[in-house]
Amino acid sequence: APVGPTLCGIPLKYLSLVTLAVQNSALTLIMHYSRVSTPPSRAYSPATAVFMNEILKGSISLLIAFSRIEAPPSDGQARTLIGRSKRLARDVFSQDCWKLSIPAILYVIQNNLQFVAVSNLQAATFQVSYQMKILTTAGFSVLLLRKKLASPQWFALLLLAIGVAVVQIQAGAVRIVEDGVPLEDTHSMNALKGFVAVVIACLTSGLAGVYFEMVLKNSQTDLWVRNVQLSLFSLLPALAPVSYLYASNPQEGWLSTLFHNFGGWAWATVLVQVFGGLLTALVIKYSDNILKGFATSLSIVISFMASVALFDFQITLTFVTGSLIVVLATWLYNHQPKRSESFSWAFGWT
Ligand code: C5P
Repeated sequence: APVGPTLCGIPLKYLSLVTLAVQNSALTLIMHYSRVSTPPSRAYSPATAVFMNEILKGSISLLIAFSRIEAPPSDGQARTLIGRSKRLARDVFSQDCWKLSIPAILYVIQNNLQFVAVSNLQAATFQVSYQMKILTTAGFSVLLLRKKLASPQWFALLLLAIGVAVVQIQAGAVRIVEDGVPLEDTHSMNALKGFVAVVIACLTSGLAGVYFEMVLKNSQTDLWVRNVQLSLFSLLPALAPVSYLYASNPQEGWLSTLFHNFGGWAWATVLVQVFGGLLTALVIKYSDNILKGFATSLSIVISFMASVALFDFQITLTFVTGSLIVVLATWLYNHQPKRSESFSWAFGWT
């Protein structure tokens, strides 16, 4: 079976899945730290982070899309800078570009809610609860992409929900300690608010991902052009909360309101998020949303080990049990007995 494009001999499909797992772990830890390491009075605005994410991701996608424009050697005009720009503009503002407005709005909501969740839940709790994305993604894949699921896969989804619930009731998790004081103790967290945010973020993630996959795979349009369209449609909804911020404090300038308290950790969060967005697009193109779920639950194990190494991680039996159930459920979901002669099932190799 074709493996698609490769980088240094490694298929892009597997490379992007593994990198996404590492990126997911890094993002949870960095984002959580960036939110809880300062008192609320010195917190940066998540709305700015979401907005900057779209600006940077859109610009990178635009550059890549531009470099990929192919013009026939016979068409001299199409090969000039202006000719190529016109060509790109025509691709970006195509007749069906409006289709990207749906995932764009959903992703902006999700990206904002992710900050609410990460600021109100322990990093590990957040990450495991966020696995419910697999559930919503599967649901929307069945509904919109007409994917057929076997009974063990439905069972795996049930198991996943149980695992997430078990982790929810765990008591201690990641404690980032500075000068002997757990940072989370100085930062008030509202677990219910965090959990509601996670649930809605999982719904929007599933729908947006599947919708993006549908648009991408039902047309010939280049992935990077689709990404530019996605970012363009995100700008308006991402700008709305930023404008609200400005309107509530108009005596300050635009830029200083926007980047108030926006320090190194905030920028690190944005950069890791930009990288993740680009990777997610690659994963959706070269594999699919359900395999993306597999990569992200691998990231639970990575974060778990990183937390033990980096932070004063208190492991509880319920946390370990819940996490094991989540990982087992993910394994079961991706396990297709007919192809079990090798490890091929794990990544859907054929
Ligand atoms: O958690 P999930 O995998 O649904 O997160 C997707 C993330 O990737 C979102 O932050 C979204 O903005 C980003 N994304 C992107 N470009 C795509 C698809 C997703 O930037 N084509």
